[in-house]
Amino acid sequence: MKAVHIEGPGRDYRLVTTTLPRPQAGPGQILIAVAAAGLNNADLLQARGLYPPPPGASPILGMEVSGVIAEVGEGAGSWKTGDKVCALLPGGGYAEFAVADAGAALPVPDTIDLVDAAGLPEAAFTAWTNIVGMGRLAPGESLLIHGGTSGIGSLAIQIFAGRGHRIFTTVGSAEKCAAAVKFGAARAINYAREDFVAVVKSETDNKGVDVILDMVGGDYVQRNIAAAAPWGRIINIAYQSGFRTGVDFTSVLTKRLTLAATTLRGRTAEQKRAIRDALMREVWPGVGTGIKPVTDRVFPLEQAQKAHEFMAKTGHIGKILLQIA
Ligand SMILES: NC(=O)c1ccc[n+]([C@@H]2O[C@H](COP(=O)([O-])OP(=O)(O)OC[C@H]3O[C@@H](n4cnc5c(N)ncnc54)[C@H](OP(=O)(O)O)[C@@H]3O)[C@@H](O)[C@H]2O)c1
Repeated sequence: MKAVHIEGPGRDYRLVTTTLPRPQAGPGQILIAVAAAGLNNADLLQARGLYPPPPGASPILGMEVSGVIAEVGEGAGSWKTGDKVCALLPGGGYAEFAVADAGAALPVPDTIDLVDAAGLPEAAFTAWTNIVGMGRLAPGESLLIHGGTSGIGSLAIQIFAGRGHRIFTTVGSAEKCAAAVKFGAARAINYAREDFVAVVKSETDNKGVDVILDMVGGDYVQRNIAAAAPWGRIINIAYQSGFRTGVDFTSVLTKRLTLAATTLRGRTAEQKRAIRDALMREVWPGVGTGIKPVTDRVFPLEQAQKAHEFMAKTGHIGKILLQIA
């Protein structure tokens, strides 16, 4: 099968197309004939040699795909060959065939283009487990999502606006503000021009927001503490501006805040299945109607290198995909 190989992992890595043996579905797994793979920042880090795949995972890049089931392993539940699915993978997505745990796959409704569906799994799993699982977002509570036009932000806003939450979001340009409002944000904050703490405070009668999903870190750690409501929950999924920062914890104590951070990739198949089951129940009924994947650009598999360079520029709105079939 065709697959993408990392030539010279490191700062100046090159992605080249190669031929590798087709994998097989083991017990509890499905083999997917891949239509498209979603790009994630972790792929760029892995190619630079900074983020090794978890033990046992394919060394091929790619943590999410869409496609058609080509093989069903023993004990893989009710999946059938020919089913259209999208799935979260520990690796192996930049290839014509990829193996997924049966419990990490979700059906693709006819209302969603099969290629676009490749952008759903990573964003949906990450948004749900952090905002609802760790963040315990309750009905009626408000939410601040940093990076509102990121792959994760663009889907998370749609999911939680659809559930009736008032959503604040930060983005880096006026064009991105307009996109975030279209996804359902009540207030998009251009962080280049406005201070999100001041905006959130003035729009919530000084109370702050109940849950914050942050991918920025650095000085946002302190500013999130200032923007949080009493009993607020702040969940980090990345620290793009830095893992180290000085923090005054006074308000964490006095506002009784929770600060947490999680990763998804290394979780067990059972933990991922539990998130998948919750998504199936709570989110998937709206996928294809209220909730749609947001695709910025699709590159052919052979242009994986170009796709990575495009992602590194961070101008995109939504997901960047590699089309394989
Ligand atoms: N922990 C986990 O389990 C997990 C899972 C998946 C992804 N992640 C991480 O989550 C992040 C988002 O993933 P993604 O795939 O959605 O990435 P993405 O589409 O590349 O988005 C990255 C976003 O970060 C935003 N950003 C950068 N600096 C910012 C700032 N100072 N204020 C507000 N926004 C800022 C950028 O927005 P602007 O261009 O508007 O600045 C961009 O939209 C990545 O860092 C990824 O590694 C973590």
